[in-house]
Amino acid sequence: MNNQILKINKNQRDAYECVDLNNSNLLLKRYMHLLPLSTFNHKITILDVGGASGYFTKAVCDYLRNNNFEVTAYVLDTMRYSNWDNNFDDDIVFCEGSVEHVDTYWGGGKKFDLIFCNKVFHHFVTETYQGTINMIEACMNKLQRQLRKKGMLCILDYFYNGLIIDSFPSWMIYQCTSQRNLVLMKLFKKMGAKSAGNGVCFQSEKMWCELIRRCQMEVKVMDKGPVFPMKVIKQIFFLSHKPIEDCIFICEKKDF
Ligand SMILES: C[S@@+](CC[C@H](N)C(=O)[O-])C[C@H]1O[C@@H](n2cnc3c(N)ncnc32)[C@H](O)[C@@H]1O
Repeated sequence: MNNQILKINKNQRDAYECVDLNNSNLLLKRYMHLLPLSTFNHKITILDVGGASGYFTKAVCDYLRNNNFEVTAYVLDTMRYSNWDNNFDDDIVFCEGSVEHVDTYWGGGKKFDLIFCNKVFHHFVTETYQGTINMIEACMNKLQRQLRKKGMLCILDYFYNGLIIDSFPSWMIYQCTSQRNLVLMKLFKKMGAKSAGNGVCFQSEKMWCELIRRCQMEVKVMDKGPVFPMKVIKQIFFLSHKPIEDCIFICEKKDF
């Protein structure tokens, strides 16, 4: 049994390559109101896990520099998307690797003030659902240890809350998207699952809060995104008692 995180497939790669400047600026606008920058001194080291084409990282760098911070920025992604070669290499250190080994890159001892994990935790999937849940926790623990004393882990992900069994949508989506049967893969792809064949693991709000607590962190900021009609349709489909929401968590280590 493979206990490693599965590599994203071509379908996913093509979709994530299109993450552009506009999306990244919108996301930055949300973070700008949430990040307590006064906590930091004038030098900030950031890491963007699953930073894809680097547009968000670049937008954060520019924003921080405009606010008189000296910034060193890193992106860790399993894929090096095509735009890197011409765009951000001078400004951002790109590392092609997987989050599960984050403690081994850059000489092993690098610490960060801000670690961003935007829409990426749900991709830390392994061959089984329980293995995936364990992997997500192991990765969060590793990332927590890479934070400086006043550092913050910033997560953007989606809540899928079950109606009777809270974790049911999480389990069901993983089971559906991780099917390798060609007919089922085609079906789930048609239904919008870019991850069909590989798997994806969303969690409920309660699962996220418990996970963060188990990883010795506390939530400083929790900001839920707007509810669009499409999310209400998904809510009905997944028998969820709340709309499918995206949420930003900003977490700090408990011992700080
Ligand atoms: C949905 S995209 C999100 C991209 C970007 N963060 C954003 O907010 O739009 C997920 C990204 O995570 C990357 N990824 C998937 N598994 C990863 C892993 N194990 N370690 C690091 N990055 C990973 C993918 O290559 C992809 O760029």
